[in-house]
Amino acid sequence: MADATARTFPVPTGLRWSAATAAFQVEGARRADGRGRSIWDDFVDTGRLVKDRSTAEPGPDSYHRSAEDIALLHGLGVDRYRFSISWVRVQPDGRGAAQPAGLAYYDRLVDGLLDAGIVPFPTLYHWDLPSPLEVGGGWLERDTALRFAEYAEIVGAALGDRVKNWYTINEPVSTSLQGYAIGELAPGRQLLFDSLPTVHHQLLAHGRAAAILRGYGATAVGIVNNHTWVQPATDSEADQIAAHVYDLIHNRLFADPVLTGAYPDVAALGIEMPVQDGDMELISTASEFYGVNFYNPTTIAAAPEGAPVPFVQVPTPGVAHTGFGELWGIQPHALTAFLTDAARRYGDRLPPIVIGENGASFPEPDEVSGPLDDSRRIDYLASHIGAVADAVAQGVRVDEYTVWSLLDNFEWADGFTQRFGLVHVDQRMSKRTPKASYEWYRALIAETKSAQ
Ligand code: NOJ
Repeated sequence: MADATARTFPVPTGLRWSAATAAFQVEGARRADGRGRSIWDDFVDTGRLVKDRSTAEPGPDSYHRSAEDIALLHGLGVDRYRFSISWVRVQPDGRGAAQPAGLAYYDRLVDGLLDAGIVPFPTLYHWDLPSPLEVGGGWLERDTALRFAEYAEIVGAALGDRVKNWYTINEPVSTSLQGYAIGELAPGRQLLFDSLPTVHHQLLAHGRAAAILRGYGATAVGIVNNHTWVQPATDSEADQIAAHVYDLIHNRLFADPVLTGAYPDVAALGIEMPVQDGDMELISTASEFYGVNFYNPTTIAAAPEGAPVPFVQVPTPGVAHTGFGELWGIQPHALTAFLTDAARRYGDRLPPIVIGENGASFPEPDEVSGPLDDSRRIDYLASHIGAVADAVAQGVRVDEYTVWSLLDNFEWADGFTQRFGLVHVDQRMSKRTPKASYEWYRALIAETKSAQ
């Protein structure tokens, strides 16, 4: 079993430690207590869009087993737990009165975490848009940002006395590009560049919700963006231009408005955002932290003439990859490069960074009889924590590191085929078995705490 005391990678001092999940990926219980339907219920119920045709049930069934999750978190010694709140448990139709039974679940979860000495750090939106709002146009419509504000109001009023740290929206880039542009995630639309109003409306929803939550006593509210380090496949001019465009669309379209109050110059791509007076001020209201999810670098080549988008993602040459396939190259220094570049680009506008997700899936059995020796996950996590330390040594402020994920869970269109957990979950029996990486993370946290 891996021994954290024998580690060879640097660890930043003073970092807070966390682990993450998201409602649709772990809760199961899709019909319990008046829960409404989200775009992910619609997606899984088609029976053909998810690789293994699984429906996120039973899965970890955290709706009924949150006490087990809290015990696992307590055993790890994490400072915080990142989970998400399901909009359709709180407001089954995405508007109107709250559903008390749904809210009560989060109420109990928050109290349970606090009793265990763990700071709750929920995400308001982790991809599960209420279906009735999608029928009305979903994130293409400005009204969805207004509905989101109403939802934030309900959740803030219910939990704001105890929850002080909030993520607003998780990875708007994934919703816009994978959900509305190419359709591999819910709601499965293929609008290509016509999907771009969804960017602005999610950012607007972030701005509105942040203001509301601060009104309910929040002391730290931020968005969490999915970032990657983009490198051209070759030094040809065409590949360099393609990489630049990809970086603009994947990284800067989501970071610049929040951190500088303006979209990057994307007019040349024919992109125009539906900005109204006051929007950019709201979106760029200073946050106490900036959330970064990071998994892999991205290598980009120019697309062939006539392709619908000007870039194509290719494997990063010479690097090993995770179980998610060859586009998920393992290159920890890409995280250092991203963080130092962001600190340079945004300067004083960049608040301390919270790593909201980092982790890896590898092929693992569906059933186990004891702790899995997941040494590749340990290597991945160790090298990325080391990469954060390298960035900190170069002056980047990073406050927190979060492993994705506490539990093996429902990996969206990949169903139960990708396992990211520190804890193995038998998805039919909902049985939890900590892996070697759980023990490794526990020892690392204990060691850094005793050194403080
Ligand atoms: C980012 C998403 O926020 C999370 O839901 C997902 O499971 C991980 N990436 C891994 O793909």
